[in-house]
Amino acid sequence: MKFPETRLRRLRYNNKVRNLVENVSLSTSDLIYPIFVCEGNNTKNEIKSLPGQYQLSIDNVLVLCKDLKKSGIQNIIIFGISSKKDETGEISCNQKSIVPMAIKEIKKSFIDEFLVIADVCNCSYTTHGHCGTIINNEVDNDLTIETLAKQSIELAKAGVDIIAPSDMMDGRVQLIRKKLDKNGFVDLPIFPYSVKYASSFYGPFREAVDSSPKKGDRKSYQMNFKNSNEFMREIEQDLNEGADAIIIKPALSYLDIISRAKNKFNVPIIAYNVSGEYSMVKAGHEKKYIEEEHVMMEIMYSIKRAGADAIITYHALEIANALKKDHV
Ligand code: PBG
Repeated sequence: MKFPETRLRRLRYNNKVRNLVENVSLSTSDLIYPIFVCEGNNTKNEIKSLPGQYQLSIDNVLVLCKDLKKSGIQNIIIFGISSKKDETGEISCNQKSIVPMAIKEIKKSFIDEFLVIADVCNCSYTTHGHCGTIINNEVDNDLTIETLAKQSIELAKAGVDIIAPSDMMDGRVQLIRKKLDKNGFVDLPIFPYSVKYASSFYGPFREAVDSSPKKGDRKSYQMNFKNSNEFMREIEQDLNEGADAIIIKPALSYLDIISRAKNKFNVPIIAYNVSGEYSMVKAGHEKKYIEEEHVMMEIMYSIKRAGADAIITYHALEIANALKKDHV
């Protein structure tokens, strides 16, 4: 049957019928809120290029956690900002390092309230800003994954719930899994950033954690956005090495990748709506070019529709509040 017998608008004529047939959902439990934790006390620095996001000392992270709890947000991912840096990032591999300290405090104050994910990378801790150990002007894969595994053990000891390596080295999932198991953390999941493009959308984040490479770029380890197939091998490899779920980032310019990953692999997918994607919405709103809340929700639904099961997003608090109003 075709027009005029078939009229597709019948399923859109009013709100009730639209609600009845819609099949993409978004709820607060899908959201993961990124937190930037820094050293010191009573510190709350707004990050210029990420309006509404802050570098927070641990005491203020705990204040934020109270707000998150009120809004029903259960999942957080922690990024460390460290004034102490060295050549390899090894400086992060102890219980006194900023992220293990923050995790311990969060777990002490909010027993069982939050799923705490830790981003595992060296770039916040290296003097040169690259994600690993540099040998002959190149990030050395096999030395770097040793440091990442050490960092992961410290995070595990601090009580983290999920390890999320974001470095894009080969073999890091396997080594981290092996070391975690050897240290008795057999139940601790690894959610690697399996698909991470060398993207300019990370700009505001690098300002936030002071992790821009002092020289060169990250193209020899992060993926080339002009390649549409290598993501499959990256995911396959991580799953073979023991990944429990995968993270894809950025999200918005990579919805095709999320969708193809969903069709090919039966594994939970987390999309990272990264800093540049967030800041563009904020800037558009400030200029009064777009209606922020509606654009934000449309973006979130597009990421869910592509096949993501969960979303890491700086908008998480705003979304949780918008979902309560139930009109977007
Ligand atoms: C660390 C890391 C980065 C992001 C998450 N983990 C920056 C990078 O790889 O340069 C980016 C997140 C964002 O832009 O919101 N390697």
